[in-house]
Amino acid sequence: MRQLEISDLITAVDPRDGRRLPVARDEVVRQLREGGDEPAARIVAGLPADRDGTLDPDAVDRLLVGVHTELQRLSEELRIGDRLVHLLGPLFDAIRADGGRPGPYRLVDVGCGLGYLVRWLAATGALGPDVELVGVDLNAALVGEADRLARTEGLDCRFVHGNAFELPEAATVYVSTGVLHHFGADALGEFFRAQAASPALAFCHFDIAATGLAPVGAWVFHRARMRHPLGRHDGVVSAMRAHPDEVLLRAAAVPGMRALVYEPRGLSNPFCTTLRPVIGVRPELEAPLRRALGRRARRLVGPEHLVGAAR
Ligand SMILES: C[S@@+](CC[C@H](N)C(=O)[O-])C[C@H]1O[C@@H](n2cnc3c(N)ncnc32)[C@H](O)[C@@H]1O
Repeated sequence: MRQLEISDLITAVDPRDGRRLPVARDEVVRQLREGGDEPAARIVAGLPADRDGTLDPDAVDRLLVGVHTELQRLSEELRIGDRLVHLLGPLFDAIRADGGRPGPYRLVDVGCGLGYLVRWLAATGALGPDVELVGVDLNAALVGEADRLARTEGLDCRFVHGNAFELPEAATVYVSTGVLHHFGADALGEFFRAQAASPALAFCHFDIAATGLAPVGAWVFHRARMRHPLGRHDGVVSAMRAHPDEVLLRAAAVPGMRALVYEPRGLSNPFCTTLRPVIGVRPELEAPLRRALGRRARRLVGPEHLVGAAR
């Protein structure tokens, strides 16, 4: 059984209209106990609830915004913006060179949280003026804070509350950071199929590399840097739930997309690899992407590279 993250359980929205739904504290505590996670059950039992036992939505929002604010340091320290641009720069060059789709282009960050990545891209202008930057999240409190920060910083980017795959305007490229491990194997397939069925030309999703060291590294970082026990708990569970390269490549290999992993296990140093992306490109874009990457293209491999690879 996959361990559960507290933050996935203490908020709920109606998938049809994004409306916030009440969450019964006892029910979350029961689920965590059933999964054998007594420390997590104790954390939730200590969260404020009303007389009926419904978790206080405002307190939950404040807590999640606080935890994500601390989590932003991880994105800063891992230089997630630079690492994305290292791949997305050549990807947008390949899209421009292909000529099949003239700009402007739109990047959509799925599950943007506080929007660190989109705000960083807007602040640096790293992808060029023809790329519109949009962050989307199902969580209204997180995306609202992302919007507030972007306006305070005077940045040219947008934040939307809702499902990233139900936007009125299509994405050219979908990206995400730290989202894939929230999905089980079935939901992962659905996640990639939704992107292949859209007019998007590519996706690039960074998530924790499933190495034996990841849970230990996550424990050290979260112990040192996160104050709230929820952040510490979920940080370690995230690393335990990270999907191996093989699982991601299999799920991302949906019709109409060529699935690739950059710096998979075996081609990277497990002491240095923390996050790595799974990428999907329309098949005609693979050759221009490899040309744009130059020597770095050797680190980009498809499912055939991993045949028989041991976990
Ligand atoms: C752990 S957070 C990651 C936040 C952020 N990317 C970061 O690195 O800090 C995962 C987020 O994904 C959001 N999410 C999951 N599926 C989504 C979808 N289809 N559309 C929009 N948001 C989604 C959830 O609401 C949650 O806030």
